[in-house]
Amino acid sequence: MAEHVDPEGPGPDEAPPPLDPETLARRDEALRQVRRFGDPILRATARPVDRFDDALREEVHQMTALMHDALGIGLAAPQVGISHRLLVYRVAPDGPVAALVNPQVEWSSREEEVAEEGCLSLPAVHVEVKRPVHVRVRARDEHGEEILVEASGLEARVIQHEIDHLDGVLVLDRTSRDQRKQAVRALREREAAQVA
Ligand code: NI
Repeated sequence: MAEHVDPEGPGPDEAPPPLDPETLARRDEALRQVRRFGDPILRATARPVDRFDDALREEVHQMTALMHDALGIGLAAPQVGISHRLLVYRVAPDGPVAALVNPQVEWSSREEEVAEEGCLSLPAVHVEVKRPVHVRVRARDEHGEEILVEASGLEARVIQHEIDHLDGVLVLDRTSRDQRKQAVRALREREAAQVA
């Protein structure tokens, strides 16, 4: 795993992938549907899912499509305005998408690692976050089947980042005071520039 990982998109010091205008337009449209920093749902504790029905599977379907269009590798339901303990992720660009419902970290390693993270809800922000390298997570899939995920490296990081979203926690809360201050200032400036 590279030092620089970004749970929800390509990092700033990676060469940007060659994107055609259509892909870019689709990404921008997808990003417009993602709740941004300042939206109270990003700070709320999401509700456990208790019905594994077609509506839930439709949420998974929509979130997967949005994550794909936004060129992200993880997305949590609160980021699309749904207060559900549900997340989707795909670590390998062409790999399968996993949906975790009501995920719970059952075990995490004492070994930790620092890496830079971004977030679709925090445009242009990248901050260093220290997290356990390995985790074991119990969850259900979108059909209600129990699943156990043993993840390491980038996959473990993405899962932890997305579970944080279900608890109203953002990467800003997990970085140094200096990086947080800088990031919040950048977010406010960006907001002001877009309003003006
Ligand atoms: Ni995020």
